[in-house]
Amino acid sequence: MDLIIKNGTIVTSTESYMADIAVKDGKIAAIGSGFPEIGAEVVDAKGMLVLPGAIDAHTHLAMPFGGTISADSYLSGTRAAACGGVTTVFDYPMQRKGKGILETVEERKGMCDPEACVDYAFHCIITDLNDGTILDEFEAAVDNGITSFKCFLVYKKERMMVDDATLVKIMLKAKEVGAITNLHAENPDLIDLNIEQFLKEGKTSAWYHYLSRPEYVEAEADKRAVHLAKSINAPLYIVHMADKEGLEAAVAAKMDGHDILIETCPQYLEFTSDVYKREDGRNFVCSPPIKGQESQDALWKAIKVGTIDTVATDHCPFQSYEKDWGKEDFTKIPNGCAGIENLYPYMLSAANEGKISFNRAVELCSSNPAKIFGCTQKGSLTVGKDADIVIYDPNKDFTISVDNMHSDYDHTIWEGKTLHGYPIKTFVRGNLVYDNGDFVGKPGLGQFVKRERRK
Ligand code: URP
Ligand code: ZN
Ligand code: ZN
Ligand code: ZN
Repeated sequence: MDLIIKNGTIVTSTESYMADIAVKDGKIAAIGSGFPEIGAEVVDAKGMLVLPGAIDAHTHLAMPFGGTISADSYLSGTRAAACGGVTTVFDYPMQRKGKGILETVEERKGMCDPEACVDYAFHCIITDLNDGTILDEFEAAVDNGITSFKCFLVYKKERMMVDDATLVKIMLKAKEVGAITNLHAENPDLIDLNIEQFLKEGKTSAWYHYLSRPEYVEAEADKRAVHLAKSINAPLYIVHMADKEGLEAAVAAKMDGHDILIETCPQYLEFTSDVYKREDGRNFVCSPPIKGQESQDALWKAIKVGTIDTVATDHCPFQSYEKDWGKEDFTKIPNGCAGIENLYPYMLSAANEGKISFNRAVELCSSNPAKIFGCTQKGSLTVGKDADIVIYDPNKDFTISVDNMHSDYDHTIWEGKTLHGYPIKTFVRGNLVYDNGDFVGKPGLGQFVKRERRK
C-alpha cells in the first residue's frame, strides 16, 4: 500500500462508520482494518472525519467577462480548491461565436493542464449554433468526455445569451447524445427594462443591481425553462438557483418525475439582498443576485429535505479595483464572487452545527455532482474509486480572511466568517495537496476527467 488512513470515521452520502482506508496507485484499494503498514505513508485520523473530496461543479477560472478576466487562473483557482477540500473542479469554457465545441475545450485544456492542482472537467458554454452545425458536434463532445453543455438566457446577445428556440434545440440534442444542459435562468428583457428606468432616475448603487433583477425576474425564467424541459422531456440542470418561486417550480417538476436538477451556492445560503445596501455592496454583485430572507429560507428547506441536488460555488472573483468600476454605476460592476475554497468547509460547518447531516453535506458537494455529471471514478469512498480524500477536524475552528485563502483575489465576501470544523488534509488520487493551512501540491498534478454518457 502507498497510503493508509487509519482510526478515522469514514463519511459517505449514506453512512458513517469507523474503518481504515488503504490506497494503492491513486485508487482506494481496501477499506477495513489491520492493513500492513510497511512502506506505506500512515496517517492517524483519530477523532477526524474522512470524506470524499468535494466536486465544485460550477467555476469560472481565467474567464473573460465583464470587460476583464476573472481573478483566479487555473493555477490559483485549483490551488485554492485543494486547500478547501475540493478535488475536482468543473470549469466553463465558452464557445466564441463561430467556433466549435472541441476546439473551445481543447484550447482551455491546453491552459488548464499544466496549471491544474486538482482534477478538472468542463461544461461547454454554447453561444452560437453556427447555423445548426454545432449540434452535429455534440456526439463527438460526449465521446471526448464532455457530457454537459451550458446556456445563458442573459448577458449580451452578441456574446453569450441564447433565445428560447436555441435553448430547446440544445436541450433536445443534449438528451439525444446522453448529455445534460445547464442553464443560467433570468429574464433579460425585464433586466434591461429595470436598468433603463433606474439609470434614468440616477439610481446607480449596488442595491439597484438587486432591484433590476429581483425574485420575479429569476422566477420567470426558471419557470419558463422548467416548462420547456418538461414539454420536450429533456433533462435540465438549473445552475445557481437563488429564488423561492423558481425553486418551487423546479421542485414540483422533479416531484412529478421530470429530470430537473437543481444547484444552489453558498452565497445564497449565507447572505441576503441586504448586503447590496452596504458600502461595499458592489463586492457581492453576482448574477443572479442574492435574494431576500424568504428565498434563503426556502433554499435551506430544500437543502434539508433533499430537493436541491448540488451546492457549487459559481466561483468568479474580481479584484477590488475592477469591482470599483461600478462605484457610481452598478451596470459596470463585473459579476461574480469568490467561493471555491469555502464550499466544503461551509457546508461541513453547517453539518457540524446540526443544520444538516455530514452525509447530506457529502451528497450535495461530492456524490451528487459525480452522479449527475458522469464522474464515475469520483464522489465516493469505495474500493476502486479515485483516492480523492479529505481529512476533516470537527473541532478546529477557522475564520476566513483573504490572508488565509490560497487564491489570487484581493478581497472576499467571506471575510470574517467563522466556520466550525475545517479540513486538515486533502489528497488527490492519493497525493497530498493540502496540509493544515498549507498548499503542498504541484501545478500539473490535476488530470482531465473524461466523463461518462448519461443513461
Ligand atoms: O455573477 C456571476 N454569476 N458571474 C459568473 C457568470 C455566471 O453567470 O455564472
Ligand atoms: Zn450564471
Ligand atoms: Zn457561473
Ligand atoms: Zn466551534
